Amino acid sequence: MIAERIRLAGRTVIVSGAGGGGIGTTCARALLEAGATVLGVDRDAERLAAIEAELADPTGLGGPPGTLLTVCADVSTADGVATVVERAAAAPGELYGLVNVVGGSLLPHWAPALDFDREQWDQALDLNLHHVMWLSQAVARHLVAHESPGSIVTINSTGGVVAAPYHVGYGTAKAAVLGLTRTLALEWGRYGIRVNGVAAGSITTPRATATAQDPALAGRGVPLRRRGTPADVAAAVLFLICDLSAYTTGAVIPVEGGALHRLGLFDEDHVPVHVSNPQILARIHGD
Ligand SMILES: NC(=O)c1ccc[n+]([C@@H]2O[C@H](COP(=O)([O-])OP(=O)(O)OC[C@H]3O[C@@H](n4cnc5c(N)ncnc54)[C@H](O)[C@@H]3O)[C@@H](O)[C@H]2O)c1
Repeated sequence: MIAERIRLAGRTVIVSGAGGGGIGTTCARALLEAGATVLGVDRDAERLAAIEAELADPTGLGGPPGTLLTVCADVSTADGVATVVERAAAAPGELYGLVNVVGGSLLPHWAPALDFDREQWDQALDLNLHHVMWLSQAVARHLVAHESPGSIVTINSTGGVVAAPYHVGYGTAKAAVLGLTRTLALEWGRYGIRVNGVAAGSITTPRATATAQDPALAGRGVPLRRRGTPADVAAAVLFLICDLSAYTTGAVIPVEGGALHRLGLFDEDHVPVHVSNPQILARIHGD
């Protein structure tokens, strides 16, 4: 049965940044629903405690089939990375997967490149890039040493696929993560370790909504006419982690309502902005 490939029973998957109440928390929930042992990681202990309560029994009708473990650790440090992998290796089941969710853009990261300073740059790259390499490497070293296959998924952004004006640190970090994803996929394919990503568009997480996104502008510029939800992202992550995607590596799945396909040459109704010929416009509009 092809549909059975979604099952993750007996497999442990680490989710970094699981405590935010947004993408990481929802990814953890999806993996639990597929039967995984999930090690939720966050450096914020209060957030972790909140998701433990939320994920234990989200419907009030009994919890999901998987097992949730948590660890408070900072994945931007070598000690934090070692703690996470040790804890995952000691969990019931085999360490199998990693979802790198930690990342995002803080208010100071929105600025013209001409004004950007070194502190903003370093912060954006630390938050979005460096830990992805070191945590992925630590998980892959464990998998290779145990001759186990595995699957690593990193949450990327449309800002890593195309330009990210006034957001240069974030966009550059996410573009580097895209390169990292492809490179690791090629190097680690021989060990049965798949490495993929998700390029998320505008997603209704608490953090993003608080810093940047006015609900009144929901869906603006998006062919599907709405913002994405954390569940939209988690569904793609679940596909990439489990064996449904057994022959996929180095891929980055867009979860952006089609926004990446819309060139600036087209307006929100997909009419080319440079076309003024009334006959063509009449044909497009069906006049
Ligand atoms: N929300 C969006 O619209 C959107 C769009 C595209 C991509 N993304 C990406 O999705 C990811 C998650 O976004 P979100 O809005 O759910 O984020 P979030 O800020 O709600 O969650 C991130 C979590 O990571 C934790 N964290 C931060 N640094 C850490 C560290 N060093 N060690 C351990 N934990 C740490 C935070 O405490 C937080 O709980 C990010 O990589 C972001 O770039 C989000």
